[in-house]
Amino acid sequence: MKYPKEYLDEIKTRLKVSTVVSKFVPLKKRGKEYVGLSPFKNEKTPSFTVNDEKEFYHCFATSEHGNIFDFIIKTQNFKFGEAVKHLAQLAGMQPYMFSKLDEEREKKWKEYQSIFSQYVDFYHNELLRNESYSVARDYLKNRSLTKEEVKKFRIGYIEKKPNFFKKLKDNYSKQTLIETGLFYLDEKKKTYVERFRGRLIFPINNISGQPIALGGRIIENLDYLAKYINSPETNFFKKGSNLYNLDVARKLSNKIDQIYLVEGYMDVVGLSKNGIDNAVANLGTSLTDKQILTLNQFFDDIIICFDGDESGYKAALRAAENSIKELKPEKQISFLFLPNKEDPDSYVNKNGKANFIDFTKQSKLSIHQFIFSHYKKQTENNPSSLAIFEKKLRSIANTIKDDFIKKYVLEYFLEKISELTPHSNRNKKNYFVKRTKSLDTTKKHFNESQSLTGVELKEFSLLYLVMNNLSLLQANIHLIENIKLFTEFNKKIFKLIIEKLKSGEQIIIEDLELDSQLLEKINKFAPIKHILKNQADDDQKIIELLEDVARDLINYDLDFRIQELESKFSVDMSETTFNELKELKKKQNLN
Ligand code: UTP
Ligand code: MN
Repeated sequence: MKYPKEYLDEIKTRLKVSTVVSKFVPLKKRGKEYVGLSPFKNEKTPSFTVNDEKEFYHCFATSEHGNIFDFIIKTQNFKFGEAVKHLAQLAGMQPYMFSKLDEEREKKWKEYQSIFSQYVDFYHNELLRNESYSVARDYLKNRSLTKEEVKKFRIGYIEKKPNFFKKLKDNYSKQTLIETGLFYLDEKKKTYVERFRGRLIFPINNISGQPIALGGRIIENLDYLAKYINSPETNFFKKGSNLYNLDVARKLSNKIDQIYLVEGYMDVVGLSKNGIDNAVANLGTSLTDKQILTLNQFFDDIIICFDGDESGYKAALRAAENSIKELKPEKQISFLFLPNKEDPDSYVNKNGKANFIDFTKQSKLSIHQFIFSHYKKQTENNPSSLAIFEKKLRSIANTIKDDFIKKYVLEYFLEKISELTPHSNRNKKNYFVKRTKSLDTTKKHFNESQSLTGVELKEFSLLYLVMNNLSLLQANIHLIENIKLFTEFNKKIFKLIIEKLKSGEQIIIEDLELDSQLLEKINKFAPIKHILKNQADDDQKIIELLEDVARDLINYDLDFRIQELESKFSVDMSETTFNELKELKKKQNLN
């Protein structure tokens, strides 16, 4: 059975070639391309290149060449079907379920595509060429939209009494035409009506750039008509899954980490007119998990910028509570609130690109800051109100799927709460401050010492001690083999060293080919090095230091687990949870 092209295209557009390849081959960026050692040949100098823009890989040594499917098939020895399943999963898509309806659906999709293309082209050209559409032209002029934007977004205008239906009905069945959502049947008059008549239309494209729906704006102020209407859901258009302009914006993801998520079509167009093309709109519905995940496939940094009025604020809050679940290391979601009565379109037209970007830098709030400040505003300084506040924040943090992020967000919330109640937490305070700084900077792990969290520094100390006392520890492996680390990179090298130590072979750090940047950081920032300087030869002292560091790390783990259980207990009140909690607290006291 053949997979529909639509499904395969979606996989291809969601996954950069470099994303797929780098799961198997370490790649280095070189200009627009990536290079690495060829997986098709044993080689010492890299002759394997990946180009995300052109969507292929090429090996100069063997002339192997292809797209992501080819890559998986050739390097993993997969059949095509297996490659599709594997890549769909990587792209965050559901596995494809074949059914008898597939062929039918494929045929329908072809017709749907063709109707939409003709429709969009026709009314776009009409708007550009038909001199009699002066109302539409005046409207565009009033909003200072030029031919350039009209062309870029393929905006069209549909006259009040259009008759495109007649042209199409010779080639397609009425049923097919109705199913596009472009037309509906007026039961009384028994005529087929163009849904978007009398409106400017904004084509909404799927991720491969093919129009699949429309947004339409009235251009005369008529109170009884909605300002905007959108296509109804069809077989090929699902509102919560698509984003306006994603097909264009995604192409920038090689160069830009940030994407603006705005409310309206005109916001996207207005930003683009001012030189900001990394913007998408979510089509007048509330933001879905799926939209966040899709954006994250391409961009690390989502900036949600809704209108500066009450409904914009409410939509943002809903978006925040919905999307915090999906927060991942390396990814950020933040919120930008515009001055009252402005939307991104009006703001950028008034103030220009540079100002908008400055404003973003200065005013954006990360998602956890926004959520905290929102609920804080509703809290009074009395025990009952504070309790509700803390409970709410804990339960929000608990919805986060990624454990690492969950931990940091929870810590951030608790730290901020402890600032509100200085008495109850006086002795905990320093302890928190050190560790909670850097949610925003999980990704910038290596950048500067300030961005290192307390736990990372502890881990650095551990690694520093270990690496400088390898033979001592090979003889005393029991001291370290069960220590749990938390930071991805540190964990990796710790594991590697333990394995080597256990193998009994003599080890030389240089031979392990550890990430040199990380080694540099450890040597530079490990707090223990200042102490170790004076104790370097005293084995007993070193073992004591090691035990100290290990104890800190265990406590850190216990503390985190206790916080989690406490918040679980506040919800489930179960005896098992309570007992687990008691057990952990006992352990913590022993330490
Ligand atoms: P806005 O009312 O904020 O419109 O709706 P806007 O983007 O500022 O548009 P202009 O500047 O007046 O032309 C934002 C989005 O909400 C949806 C549309 O997707 C719109 O782009 N919307 C709005 C509707 O679906 N229906 C409506 O009646 C209004
Ligand atoms: Mn507007």
